[in-house]
Amino acid sequence: MVFIDACFRQETPYTPIWMMRQAGRYLSEYQAVRKRAKNFLDLCADVKLATEVTLQPIEILDVDAAILFSDILLLPHKMGLPLEFLPSFGPKFTQTIQNLEDMKALKRGAYKDLGFVYEIVSSVRAKLDKSKALIGFSGAPWTLATYMLEGQGSKTYSRSKKILYTEPATVHALLEALSDEIIGYLDMQAQAGANALMLFDSWAGALELEAYLEFGWSYIDKITKALKLKHPKIPLIVFPKGVGAYLGHLKGDFEVFGCGWGVPLKLAKEILGGHYVLQGNLEPARLYSQEAMVEGVEHIFGLMGKKAGFIFNLGHGMLPDLPRANAIELVRLVRTQSKR
Ligand code: CP3
Repeated sequence: MVFIDACFRQETPYTPIWMMRQAGRYLSEYQAVRKRAKNFLDLCADVKLATEVTLQPIEILDVDAAILFSDILLLPHKMGLPLEFLPSFGPKFTQTIQNLEDMKALKRGAYKDLGFVYEIVSSVRAKLDKSKALIGFSGAPWTLATYMLEGQGSKTYSRSKKILYTEPATVHALLEALSDEIIGYLDMQAQAGANALMLFDSWAGALELEAYLEFGWSYIDKITKALKLKHPKIPLIVFPKGVGAYLGHLKGDFEVFGCGWGVPLKLAKEILGGHYVLQGNLEPARLYSQEAMVEGVEHIFGLMGKKAGFIFNLGHGMLPDLPRANAIELVRLVRTQSKR
């Protein structure tokens, strides 16, 4: 698999590409399948439909990897927090963690209740071409904890930060519990057939450096170490979003470092390029304009070259109103431009 070889810095015939949120509303094919499920959570739990949407970007875009169709919030949901996906608002936990008592009431071993996720992984792997990789994923502890504390996305993260600075032990207990769940969850995805595993730390940039190292990165470090011992041949990808200024502090036991669009790739290459394969980081909004997209691709290849050590991706997820034709063109462009 070109993608897996690239994760381990092997030479490949071209630079592999996949896109965060490559399965989603910008594809009419996704919308058609989405309508067949009662709501988004039901779609995530329906093995047949979730398999179908996981495979759509492979068929439509010809990307090098499929990513499991699911959501990072299913795990905290199974730990006991009621979850809704409200149209034009996004996800919302209608009950949140307020104190140590709430935290202790959470279900442990919840990852065992996500059997349908592992079934989707096996079902996709069985249908996927042998040359294409399947990426399994989880939210990182800090990002999942913020959703559990806030109930929803936040601009200030004030609830999370208040409890972090007033009751750090409670937050650590929550992060510990989440780390154990995530290790179990990703281990099971690997056993079901995932070829690579990715941790999304979307709200990493909400914390000052010291707090991020203590409450965010240290748990990522623990999780990647545990997974590396169990599955040395499965590459691990970490994506801490919004931490460009902290790059020098983010070392650990993983293969691929995902760069958000806010990280200048030149800087990431200088600081981390010798340690990790870099993945990223075309600004998704460039896909609104074919010109801006081509310019972005050329800039990235100008910096990263066409040798091993780089995987092409967007710097965050595909947006629902991006033109699908440009997504298709992006894959074609990256493949032809990077032919060795
Ligand atoms: O194609 C893929 O990337 C795989 C599937 C995937 C989804 N969510 C599907 C989804 C993945 C990897 C995620 C991860 C995820 N979910 C993250 C981390 C990555 C990031 O974006 O930072 C986060 C923070 C979430 C939480 C979440 N789920 C939000 C904030 C939203 C609403 C945003 C929106 O675009 O509406 C979701 C819903 C969601 N997850 C959708 C999809 C396809 C849209 C749901 C719909 O069809 O209505």
